[in-house]
Amino acid sequence: MAFPYQRNRRLRATEAIRDLVAEHHLLPTDFMVPLFLIEGERKKEEISSMPGYYRFSLDLLIEEVKDCYSLGLRSVLLFVKVAEELKDNEGAEALNDDGLMQRGIRAIKIAVPEMYVMSDVALDPYSSFGHDGIVVENEIVNDLTVEILGDMAVSHARAGADMVAPSDMMDGRIGYIRERLEDEGFKNTGIMSYSAKYASSFYGPFRDVLDSTPGFGDKKTYQMNIANSQEALSEVERDIEEGADIVMIKPGMPYLDVLRIVKDNFNVPIAVYQVSGEYAMIKAAAEKGWLPHDEVVLESLIAFKRAGATLIATYFAKDAVRLLKG
Ligand code: PBG
Repeated sequence: MAFPYQRNRRLRATEAIRDLVAEHHLLPTDFMVPLFLIEGERKKEEISSMPGYYRFSLDLLIEEVKDCYSLGLRSVLLFVKVAEELKDNEGAEALNDDGLMQRGIRAIKIAVPEMYVMSDVALDPYSSFGHDGIVVENEIVNDLTVEILGDMAVSHARAGADMVAPSDMMDGRIGYIRERLEDEGFKNTGIMSYSAKYASSFYGPFRDVLDSTPGFGDKKTYQMNIANSQEALSEVERDIEEGADIVMIKPGMPYLDVLRIVKDNFNVPIAVYQVSGEYAMIKAAAEKGWLPHDEVVLESLIAFKRAGATLIATYFAKDAVRLLKG
């Protein structure tokens, strides 16, 4: 039946009917809050390339986690900035049960036990080369790195992490981490795999945060080629087979097509990471008065839901829940 029997504008006439027929809604439980932990006390440092976003020392990070929880947010994704003198090629500090990450996880689980804690598993913050793997003759070696990632995941689980989130893109790491977790009795520790993580130029501000810019070369031998989408399906398929509970696509807005094809092909929860460069772009345009901040934030987030995301890691999580409350 055609016009005038069908008038699409009927369902757009008022806010009430628009909301009633909306296909997607944003909820506080859609979001994972990335948090950056640093050594020290009473420290809250604004990140210059991420205005309005901070690195926190553990005491203030706990306050931040409590604040997030009271807003309705239920998961955090924890990253640490490691002191220069603790960095080496093998990432030995990553396995320290009393390292910053491990202390951070323990403290959050004590202060806000209901907060779901996910921890970043990758060597780059610990690597003197700023790479996600061990470097041998200018090459990022896979299998040796995977063994360390397994130990790192176990150390995080021991500290109380609910889910580990390997962001390194080494081959076979999900299966190895899953085996190590099973061996050590952590059968309920989840794995959120950064399955389709692209060798993107949108990570710049994040690397400023952790001082983790690669010392040589780039990450193109392990992160995915930005030209590929079908390859994401095989990455995701392998990670699910190897024992991932959640698969992630990263970055977000430039890769909505990837999110959609993964959603259409698999039945596991899919996370998307709206990365630091995406945050920086929106902040910069809003600061200049070129875009309306709040509207653009919500539009970018609903786009992820529309494209198929179950969960969204975003630096706008707190802004979003405030905006959603109206
Ligand atoms: C590294 C890691 C990166 C991000 C999360 N984990 C950067 C990289 O691969 O160099 C980027 C997140 C962001 O840009 O917000 N393991």
